[in-house]
Amino acid sequence: MKRIAILASGGDAPGMNACVRAVVRAGSHRGLETLGVKDGYVGLINRQLIILHRHDVSNIIQRGGVFLGSLRCEEFYTPEGRARGAEVLRAFNVDGLVAIGGEGTLRGARALSSEHGIATVVVPATIDNDAPGTDWCIGFDTAVNTAVEAVDRLRDTAEATERVFFVEVMGRESGALALHTGVAAGADAILVPEIETNVEELAELLNRAILRRSRSLIVVVAEGEIAGGAFAIAERVRQHIKFDYRVTVLGHIQRGGTPTARDRLLASQLGICAVEALMDGKTGHVAGELCGEVRLTPFDELTTDKRLAPLSLLQLLPDLF
Ligand code: F6P
Repeated sequence: MKRIAILASGGDAPGMNACVRAVVRAGSHRGLETLGVKDGYVGLINRQLIILHRHDVSNIIQRGGVFLGSLRCEEFYTPEGRARGAEVLRAFNVDGLVAIGGEGTLRGARALSSEHGIATVVVPATIDNDAPGTDWCIGFDTAVNTAVEAVDRLRDTAEATERVFFVEVMGRESGALALHTGVAAGADAILVPEIETNVEELAELLNRAILRRSRSLIVVVAEGEIAGGAFAIAERVRQHIKFDYRVTVLGHIQRGGTPTARDRLLASQLGICAVEALMDGKTGHVAGELCGEVRLTPFDELTTDKRLAPLSLLQLLPDLF
């Protein structure tokens, strides 16, 4: 093994830069040359590969986003697109690929490995924390902390003005970010895409809290909540409560910003693990953290395409109410 490539694809996540840095440096430490692929699978198809030296990844461990760019690629969903990608990797004499990202990134890497025999290792990174083969995806910890800080700020004004705040966090298909944020920020209710919201029950809960003389109420809503997110839910609950309310959508703020120490550490560990795996001749694996340990899971042993959200966190709410 002489040359590897690295790309990030799909929604970016804080800590991706730290992972690129770890891969380039771990590779260089072991005598490998690393090529950075611009803009994920889009750049791969378009032959946008650049040599990355260890100094090219200086001063990025603390930066959000990903300097390589991370686009979504429709063409890579087609066999022809993937064949072109594999052809480019061969033309550049790449012996192994590290792909950082979520579910779509994994799907692309898996196909490159099974259809074209390209050695690939996927490092899970998404603020949705729903990629398989790991308990924690790079970026999730940062996003949770960003969202919790935002809710804390909203709580200040809610308390002063006696309002219910419906706070929408990201998560089109997963409630993980809403659940972690909600519990950590002391939310009164958490609404997720996995469970249909019962509007009457929610209104009753809020009314009980009002009777109990709570001045501020927080409902954390995942963007993929079935009724249509925070605005839709607020509109429905409005008729059943006497409290004034406001809606705040946190949006892409949760995707950017300085990665937490936890995400930088995870990104560094998983990046090094990915390089070691390729050097050991592993051809299709996810490098993740499982039960507190850095572990490799072969693609074929992944039991699902998606990591499920920790819905058991909802059971904590009655005790904390
Ligand atoms: O990064 C994951 C995610 O934030 C989802 O929760 C969200 O639905 C999606 O990305 C939105 O991404 P974009 O606006 O880039 O399409």
